[in-house]
Amino acid sequence: MTVKRYPPISGKLPVFMHGADYNPDQWQHRPDVLEEDIRLMKLAKTNVMAVGIFAWAALEPEEGVFTFDWLDRTLDRFAANGLYAWLATPSGARPAWMSEKYPEVLRVGANRVRNLHGARHNHCYTSPVYREKTAVMNGKLAERYAHHPAVVGWHISNEYGGECHCPYCQDAFRDWLKRKYGTLDALNHAWWAAFWSHTYTSWEQIESPAPHGEKMVHAMNLDWRRFVTDQTVDFCRHEIAPLRAANPELPVTTNMMDLFDGLDYRRFADVVDVVSWDAYPMWHDAGGEGEGKTAAWFSFNHDLFRSLKGGQPFMLMESTPSLTNWQAVSKLKRPGMHKLSSLHAVAHGSDTVQYFQWRKSRGSSEKFHGAVVDHAGHEHTRVFRDVTEVGDTLERLRDVLGTSVDAQVAIIFDWDNRWAVKDAQGPRNMGVHFEDTVVQHYKAFWELGVPVDVIGRHDDLSKYKLLVAPMMYMVDEAAGKRIEQFVGGGGTFVTTYWSGIVDENDLCHLAGFPGPLRKTLGIWSEEIDGLHDHDKNGLVFLDGNALGLTGEFASHELCDLIHLEGAEALAVYADDFYAGRPALTVHSFGRGKAYYLTTRAKEPFYDLFYKRLVAEAGIKRAVDADLPAGVTAQVRTDGTNDYVFWLNFSGKEQKIALDNLRYTDMESGEAVGPEVTIPLHGVRILRRTAL
Ligand code: GLA
Ligand code: ZN
Repeated sequence: MTVKRYPPISGKLPVFMHGADYNPDQWQHRPDVLEEDIRLMKLAKTNVMAVGIFAWAALEPEEGVFTFDWLDRTLDRFAANGLYAWLATPSGARPAWMSEKYPEVLRVGANRVRNLHGARHNHCYTSPVYREKTAVMNGKLAERYAHHPAVVGWHISNEYGGECHCPYCQDAFRDWLKRKYGTLDALNHAWWAAFWSHTYTSWEQIESPAPHGEKMVHAMNLDWRRFVTDQTVDFCRHEIAPLRAANPELPVTTNMMDLFDGLDYRRFADVVDVVSWDAYPMWHDAGGEGEGKTAAWFSFNHDLFRSLKGGQPFMLMESTPSLTNWQAVSKLKRPGMHKLSSLHAVAHGSDTVQYFQWRKSRGSSEKFHGAVVDHAGHEHTRVFRDVTEVGDTLERLRDVLGTSVDAQVAIIFDWDNRWAVKDAQGPRNMGVHFEDTVVQHYKAFWELGVPVDVIGRHDDLSKYKLLVAPMMYMVDEAAGKRIEQFVGGGGTFVTTYWSGIVDENDLCHLAGFPGPLRKTLGIWSEEIDGLHDHDKNGLVFLDGNALGLTGEFASHELCDLIHLEGAEALAVYADDFYAGRPALTVHSFGRGKAYYLTTRAKEPFYDLFYKRLVAEAGIKRAVDADLPAGVTAQVRTDGTNDYVFWLNFSGKEQKIALDNLRYTDMESGEAVGPEVTIPLHGVRILRRTAL
């Protein structure tokens, strides 16, 4: 990367943002609550609230009648007290009058039944009425608040998601298909519609996937999901238009969710000014195993969200200050865990720590969800102290603001590949565990303290030394070419079984798998064997292999049977009729190397394999030290200083021998070394001169 410092998210508040979703609309009958909240916000060292999410009924109690007095009061009091707001558009839930008068705003399910009014996130993104009402509402908010001193940006809707199958959406889907394919012939070919006599002879015959209709045309399922993303992105743009028109300076964001499957978030990257997401790790659920697995999963997400806008700092928009109310078992965060969890996001590039929620609601479904202010209504709680401590630490981390992560490793994670590989009826319908597999590869880097970006196959590859693409089932010719050039130019590429199978339309490559990657990898995959849960195989390293690795590692789920076409075998299968055939290969191609792993190996294979590759490719680690299991080190840098975050998810106190560099503790300002102690559920942030 060109190492640099990004500007603060808002010039009005050039510090770490710390705050929560705040719903004064629920407390209008208690004017004392606002004043008390303001006192508590300052006490908790918070500085920004997300205000107005789901507040449509309070803003427009009757059609065309707008009541902004409560919001005026909130924002004015904020401004008078040095507090700020992300002002939300309320489209995440609509008022009952709207559903009653215009049923078309309500979503229709895949079963073609229209929902009743209720819950939230329950509206059609295509409905002209819903779009009109949203435009009016957002226009009013923009007109009134776009230049309000307390407003630092717009929080668009809330966690967009879901799909609608109403007649408007069917028409929009058909139009989308017409734009994509031009002719029915092209569509019929791409969808391989001759199969089962599915050939369409008019556009009107096409319907979205339905449980009682079409659901087996995988290319159509894929196009439907792409359409749902495009329609949601389009709705998001529609929401943003009046806001930008009123004040182009105010940043816009929409909060996303942990590895959400329903929308291709990469498509939102250009629409928002800053990426934000809501992280709810289920800490303390793993029994005695420590929190490493959960932490790596959330690290992967943080890296993904940071990578969406090429490394620009993101926002942790929601997290719980204590517990959630939706897990099977909601555990309290153990002492230390709140700070560790919050700084976990910061370590990966977040410039904010925000919560759901500021104050517990008195009734309805989230009344027992964690909040900074509990029903007791005062500051004398463990959670309030934890939050204040985070506020205090964030003040000391001021220099970290705007720095980012300089990764030389990238993992390819594409939503359309994910959809296609999981939807395909293939060698293992009981589960190919796509996401788990990707994170399993990722975790090996996490354990080594190697920074990773999570990118799409069409993103720029030039800054990386090592590219990892687990189960890259979908590879179009263009992506194949770019990977070929990456390896030819000296990069290291790793992919696995079940890669290079289909093109972007989900049509199988015909010239032998792994399709466009065949030449780069120097192998041909002839067959793939599905394994039951009770089946297993193994991968045995060959004597004297180029990686210098030894031993046998268990493997499971899928076994690819390949032929060498220039690649050499590093390891072979242990069992079955294909014992002795290649299980891990490397191909020297141009100035680089391409590795192919034919089966899902079990631990500790990935740790050893990637440790070797990291060393071989000369990839920078956060620190030159051995990290105990469950401990990671992540670095943010501006090219002058590095900020090394030591995060201890191991479930016990750890003492780590540092390298010989000079470190200063960011919280105490004191020199540290040669050993650093990280408490149980603890975090240390150390500054050093940039490597
Ligand atoms: C989501 C929503 C919030 C709240 C929390 C509860 O992230 O955006 O409104 O429901 O979950 O954990
Ligand atoms: Zn619809």
